[in-house]
Amino acid sequence: MITPFFALVYAAVVSAAGSALTAISVNGGPWDTTSTRPSPAGGPPVLNVLAPEIICGYNGTIPVKGVTTVVGGKSNVTVLWSPDSHIGPNLIYVAPVPSPYITPVTGLKWTKISQQGISIPGGGGTGWSSPLPGGQYHFIIPPTLPPGPYLLRAESLVLPNGGNFKTAESFVGCIQINVTLTPPGPPPSIAVPFPGAYSPGDPGLTWNLAAPPPPPYPFPGGPVWPSGATTNDNDVGDI
Ligand SMILES: *[C@@H]1O[C@H](CO)[C@@H](O)[C@H](O)[C@H]1NC(C)=O
Ligand SMILES: *[C@@H]1O[C@H](CO)[C@@H](O)[C@H](O)[C@H]1NC(C)=O
Ligand SMILES: *[C@@H]1O[C@H](CO)[C@@H](O)[C@H](O)[C@H]1NC(C)=O
Repeated sequence: MITPFFALVYAAVVSAAGSALTAISVNGGPWDTTSTRPSPAGGPPVLNVLAPEIICGYNGTIPVKGVTTVVGGKSNVTVLWSPDSHIGPNLIYVAPVPSPYITPVTGLKWTKISQQGISIPGGGGTGWSSPLPGGQYHFIIPPTLPPGPYLLRAESLVLPNGGNFKTAESFVGCIQINVTLTPPGPPPSIAVPFPGAYSPGDPGLTWNLAAPPPPPYPFPGGPVWPSGATTNDNDVGDI
């Protein structure tokens, strides 16, 4: 049971600040800020999961000059959110692209490779993946991801909060990456479109963030590839 006072506190926390995807690091290396497509600092989040902005956020169709090189199975990637002050799940997708500099970004096939929702079972409104330690989310590039250029879609969701919010808020951005050294192979067997992967009524988007029902959290966007996981799967801190 959540008191109105508590609900107000959570509302303040959840809506206090936006969040922008600012950088990527591979295996603990330096932060690369040149591969991240412009993501406005401080938000705003995307509220309509059926809008084109759900793909790569606002201005996500604007290419940048950098490309981050990763190796399937060997690159432990960290994406940086700044600030990351809100509560909620985190999700990572990749889509093969003819060129990392493509624009627009519609019509791509997105494969979910990592997700983390409730990280402390029983933690209530504070048991979520976000806020992330230092704004950093870690995941491994799948070992069988075929080489080539991809857009990496990182998403940090804020869910409806005890009735204070009617809809999920998506902080989302894209990073230009190049997968190298892995053997050529078939494309991932799981892929979804954006827009299209999410519907406004998805259980994972209407979940009560502040007073969540018992886990598992029903992630939107289908299973993770290649594991097929529908619960936490980020290779770090899984429960
Ligand atoms: C998108 O980029 C344009 C041009 O740089 C800028 O004026 C606008 O504020 C940006 N949009 C958002 C939502 O930040
Ligand atoms: C990835 O890097 C993070 C940060 O250094 C670390 O906590 C995590 O254990 C690493 N994951 C794997 C699977 O090595
Ligand atoms: C990706 O890596 C391959 C192999 O090193 C290289 O030939 C190619 O030019 C790179 N592509 C981009 C866009 O960086």
